[in-house]
Amino acid sequence: MSPSAATTTPANAAETPVELSEIEQIVTKLAKSGIKNPRSASKGGFADSWVENLPATTKARFEKYGIDISQGYPQRPPTEDIPIFVDQAHAVRDKEVPYIERAKNADPEKKALFAAAKEVKNLTKHIGTEIIGLQLSDLTDQQRDELALLIAERVVVFFRDQDLDPKIQADLGAYYGNVEYHPQQVHVPGLPGTTVIWQDLLIKLGLNIGFKNNVKAGTSQWHTDLTHELQPPGITHLHNDAIPDVGGDTIWSSGYAAYDKLSPAFQKFLDGKKAVYFSAHNYLDRENPLKGRVNVEREHPIIRTHPATGWKSLFVNRAMTRRIVGLEPRESDLILEYLFSIFEKNLDIQVRFNWKPTKAGLGTSALWDNRVSQHFAVWDHEGNEPRHGTRVSSLAEVPYFDPESKSQREALGLSLN
Ligand SMILES: [Fe+2]
Repeated sequence: MSPSAATTTPANAAETPVELSEIEQIVTKLAKSGIKNPRSASKGGFADSWVENLPATTKARFEKYGIDISQGYPQRPPTEDIPIFVDQAHAVRDKEVPYIERAKNADPEKKALFAAAKEVKNLTKHIGTEIIGLQLSDLTDQQRDELALLIAERVVVFFRDQDLDPKIQADLGAYYGNVEYHPQQVHVPGLPGTTVIWQDLLIKLGLNIGFKNNVKAGTSQWHTDLTHELQPPGITHLHNDAIPDVGGDTIWSSGYAAYDKLSPAFQKFLDGKKAVYFSAHNYLDRENPLKGRVNVEREHPIIRTHPATGWKSLFVNRAMTRRIVGLEPRESDLILEYLFSIFEKNLDIQVRFNWKPTKAGLGTSALWDNRVSQHFAVWDHEGNEPRHGTRVSSLAEVPYFDPESKSQREALGLSLN
């Protein structure tokens, strides 16, 4: 190491310090090969002048709750924290941390939660419940536990007309698990674990999204969030504070019900198998930077057991599941394609939700169990009206398969035909 070279130690990747001299050498190689410097595409700090583009309802929410946007919006993690190499990205969270399953403490009848609501409405038979007349910010810990159990059972729970302080959203997320801090996603200033979900910004940053090709919007495809994590999110809370007048719906599909759609013989074949899941973002391989950008990959069980309900769930998704471990590539492709189609084609195990509040100026929250679901954001508003949200993902347990666990229908005594 030359005397002038320094070491940068990303906060989240403390065990993989990167020598700047090494980066310089690699960047020089990349420049020679025509691949751009990955740092330039991963600039940290505040984005420039996006405050003026913030939807009025979002701005009003931030002003009311003292979110400081005077230095710009949204906030990016510091440049030095943004991983360049895939081993750094992998190391951001590669040690198991303790997790408390709040739903396990809950009253199975959820009396405290239901008594406080004006109405509790199941939106379909198998998935999705809306709670009316209750503010998330008013929940006691007992009600929070009961809500966790309701989310685990119904997969996704909705709350319209919410007046929600982003700091309370962050606090609720921290109650439900270890809040995910993404090493490069933009977040609300001062709240690193509160990710900004704002497609207008993606368009501004150069994503070419249109009516004919809106998969690039990132969320307009079936997916489960952050499945490459060692402890992928359990409860995930998206609060939309700017909602199109028409459209901008989201659809969820149940992993419990997807498992119950399979034959006993096929269930038996899949029980205990693992798959490889990969990250949405990609990085350079330190050993071979010229091979292009690669994803973080991690193995998890294809069928996982939910720690609170004890029910089995099919845990694959088209966007982030690469292959089934132990199978030939063609076998894996064929089986995965079929498994993805179970979630995507069976409308009876889906719920489609329109976020519009009944009172102008208020927002709507969806809290889903990311362990037992997929979702799809419908981009039919085409960016013509603002859609802005803040998302907190609570990382849960390391996924596991308990061979003694039952399917949802088996446990509830429903017909298995
Ligand atoms: Fe998502």
